[in-house]
Amino acid sequence: MSPWWQSAVVYQIYPRSLKDADGDGVGDLRGIIEKLDYFTWLGVNALWISPIMRSPMVDFGYDVSDYQAIDPLFGTLADFDTLLAEAHARGLKIILDLVPNHTSDQHAWFQEARASRENPKRDWYIWREPAADGGPPNNWKSYFGGPAWTLDAATGQYYLHNFAAGQPELNYRNPAVREAMFDQISFWLDRGVDGFRIDVIDRMMKHPDFPDNPPDPNWKPGDADAWQFRRVYSENQDGIHELIADMGAVFRAYSDRVSIGEIAYSSDPAFITRFAGTPDKPQIDLPFNFAPLMLPWNASAFRGFVDAYDAAVPAHSFPNYVLGNHDQQRLASRLGTAQARCAAVMLFTLRGVPFMYQGEELGLTDGEVAPEQYRDPQGINMGNSRDFCRTPFHWDGSPGAGFTTSDAPWLPIASNAPELNVETEKGDAYSVLRLYRLLLTLRRVIPALTTGTYRSYDAPDDVFLYEREAGESRVVVALNFGAEPRTVLLPPYSARLHVLASSYSDQDALPAVGETIALRPFEGVVIG
Ligand code: GLC
Repeated sequence: MSPWWQSAVVYQIYPRSLKDADGDGVGDLRGIIEKLDYFTWLGVNALWISPIMRSPMVDFGYDVSDYQAIDPLFGTLADFDTLLAEAHARGLKIILDLVPNHTSDQHAWFQEARASRENPKRDWYIWREPAADGGPPNNWKSYFGGPAWTLDAATGQYYLHNFAAGQPELNYRNPAVREAMFDQISFWLDRGVDGFRIDVIDRMMKHPDFPDNPPDPNWKPGDADAWQFRRVYSENQDGIHELIADMGAVFRAYSDRVSIGEIAYSSDPAFITRFAGTPDKPQIDLPFNFAPLMLPWNASAFRGFVDAYDAAVPAHSFPNYVLGNHDQQRLASRLGTAQARCAAVMLFTLRGVPFMYQGEELGLTDGEVAPEQYRDPQGINMGNSRDFCRTPFHWDGSPGAGFTTSDAPWLPIASNAPELNVETEKGDAYSVLRLYRLLLTLRRVIPALTTGTYRSYDAPDDVFLYEREAGESRVVVALNFGAEPRTVLLPPYSARLHVLASSYSDQDALPAVGETIALRPFEGVVIG
């Protein structure tokens, strides 16, 4: 039996924006509980919830001040236990978000560490003497702008933070830090959590000598200083794979848990799969594959990547595909509406775990957030705000979109909520929501789509053509990435098959299958 997560579809919940049950304008755990039946109706298997642990919310939960408490904004531990029980009763898995690379500066560990140079926890974080001129110890920059170092005036040393100053980096070269973080994981696994998505795992090891990073030749004056130097020494350094293997072992001590790791945005199969480790030295189950977020919308780019990646993933791991998350432009805004539908056909039919982001199933586009309404520290400091993909979910066409009864949601509700929402789309056979539900149903009933092998075929320009096969179960998928119609020669046995779904959602007018199939612009079809 393969582990449950290999055939799962994971839905990412951004909890601030899913459903606000207590009317304060911010989503919460009771809101998620109220909506669990929606997820079973949709047909996903696991909910990954972005951070809900106690946090001052400098980076909206990616700055944890207590790993064993739920932030009061979201509810209580008792609410969480209810959520877990209610989800499990419906056959849904719950995956939490762990942020081990850094804590909040409000975490008790950092409060102790900064108390004095002699404090026993001083070395839990990364401290350096000022440079000769009193400035930062080296040229490392924060992802959120400015130096990656902040001076702690009381003790006269700088501490490292690759993100906001409120997110000091832990020192994983200190074994006590590893043990302390592994204990936090066990706390939740003991409670029955099905796994973790783990934040920026490749950044957890820095060069022990802290050399300057080399200049990036692509950087020009006027570009954000975050990109001025290549992050050669500030992340992914010696010891990282051993650390991740040890972290993965915490999960493997339990049965049926999954470890998912966020690694740098890379389209290099070797880089991605290295974090899965080898059968005798496994690391984490699923290192995120962000290539679909980065590749140009181009059939040959996708075919080339998928062929190489599918072949590179070791058997004890499994491929996975990420089309969107809480840090990126929403799929429909990035690609266009018709392309986003075609991408959904691809996401749910490739060999691998699909990761979908809240709202993709409604075809949501980026929200409208004026600069003075930005909440995201990256947006406030550098202009490239992630708030657009974090605006509230649309349950219905009412003024609060069914998200909140407050007239002050934490981010504005997008103006297309009256058209794009669960209630309206449920009743519309052509909606993106109904397309997602159909694709998820096909995945559930056709074994080839989950456990089947993957093989691609040559096809005309703009077309990505592949087959999934498990014993007698065989499915062909043809995706037209281009704006022109294309006629595609199918594998010989296809004439016996039918189109089961088209990204056009016109079940009443599906293209006919013969030796060839005629695809409309940006049409993706599942043939089985
Ligand atoms: C990850 C998260 C992002 C966060 C950052 C720092 O990239 O996805 O939202 O800001 O890590 O924790």
